[in-house]
Amino acid sequence: MSEASSTATSKPARRVLLAVSGGIAAYKAPELVRALVRQGQTVRCALTRNAARFVTPLVLQTVSGHAVRTDLFDAEQEGEIDHIALADWAELVVVAPATADLLAKLAHGIADELVSTLLLATRAPVLVAPAMNVHMWDHPATRDNVALLRARGVRFVGPEAGFLACGWEGEGRMAEPATIAAEAERLLGAPTLAGEVVVVTAGGTREPLDPVRVLANRSSGKMGFEVAAEAARRGAEVVLISGPSSLATPAGVRRVGIETALQMRDAVHAELARCSVFVAAAAVSDFRPAMPAKQKIKKEALGDDGGLVVELVRNPDILAEVGAGDRAAGARSEPKAGEVQQDGRTRRLIVVGFAAESEDVLAAARRKLERKRCDLIVANDVSRSDAGFDVDTNAVTLVWPGGRDEALPLLPKRAVAAQILDRVEQIRGAR
Ligand code: C5P
Repeated sequence: MSEASSTATSKPARRVLLAVSGGIAAYKAPELVRALVRQGQTVRCALTRNAARFVTPLVLQTVSGHAVRTDLFDAEQEGEIDHIALADWAELVVVAPATADLLAKLAHGIADELVSTLLLATRAPVLVAPAMNVHMWDHPATRDNVALLRARGVRFVGPEAGFLACGWEGEGRMAEPATIAAEAERLLGAPTLAGEVVVVTAGGTREPLDPVRVLANRSSGKMGFEVAAEAARRGAEVVLISGPSSLATPAGVRRVGIETALQMRDAVHAELARCSVFVAAAAVSDFRPAMPAKQKIKKEALGDDGGLVVELVRNPDILAEVGAGDRAAGARSEPKAGEVQQDGRTRRLIVVGFAAESEDVLAAARRKLERKRCDLIVANDVSRSDAGFDVDTNAVTLVWPGGRDEALPLLPKRAVAAQILDRVEQIRGAR
């Protein structure tokens, strides 16, 4: 019986891809696989050609219980699981050991063999355990690559200081397999939202003025995408309803692309019957041109210096509809919005809204909380340059019913997403 199938665990298995590159520390990879399998994770391994000189695929196959991939273009291996499917399969990618060469490839988007291609293709978080000679680790090129990767959200564990296999002493030794496995477990997080269906709206909507011009806003979608990614990491089924955005769809998330507020509303309503947590992070246009022109509006047709007056009509407030339990006509036989059928019981939907304001932030957020009947409003001051639109950090205040406010410090949007979902779990626990 393989190591993998002999391990009993009560937690659902998480999917870890272990990428091994060609350093002497690769001999510790089987021990790392065993540590991950003991946690209850499902582990698949991919090796660079040089890694396979230090550790045999057969050993890793035996301890992981899965065929090991070593070659990008091997038809048999691609038939088992193709490399894109493998990159998509992973909920976490652990690179151990990570050589200086592999870090450079990852930092610069080089995909010239199996492992570097997997790292470019995956949307899962990446945990890197570097291992190399102390001078290679200290080299400015490696330092710059590490800084670049850290800034992009790649996590590092180690390297540690000590005697190195190359004979030198210093920083460069791979972290112990038990340390790497513990960090992996922490990053995977507990599946605390398993069983929940989380619907997140994100990004800005675009309202057509004519076939080429739109009324849009500055939302990048980053905050909503982070909430969706974090909910998926916590084991929820996640639907991300997003306006146009160049951001990659987070791993394990179903994305529904929309353009206009009316399309977003339809997409939300289509998911409501199953949704148990609704997070409205989108910047929805409050107005749309009443009559978008069928052809491109030509300035010549407006006279020499004639202006253009566009009549705008109100868009529906999607969040307020969900909060109020209002539904599109024709869907009334299903559970009302604001309610979820679970285990034969009716349970209220958890509704989280956002309030991006440039003045009187908290007072405006409180009015929204009440008017849109939310369980929580995430308020942010968009007049700050380090919070709000198109930046990676956000400084928010959580506004609760009953007059309580909770100000969070300036945090990466990923950490803000985690804080929001912690509160969602708290609301669920209190019911
Ligand atoms: O009223 P305001 O647009 O400031 O409210 C912001 C909150 O309401 C956000 O959560 C946003 O996603 C949501 N909203 C919505 N539909 C609209 C306008 C805002 O869902 N038409």
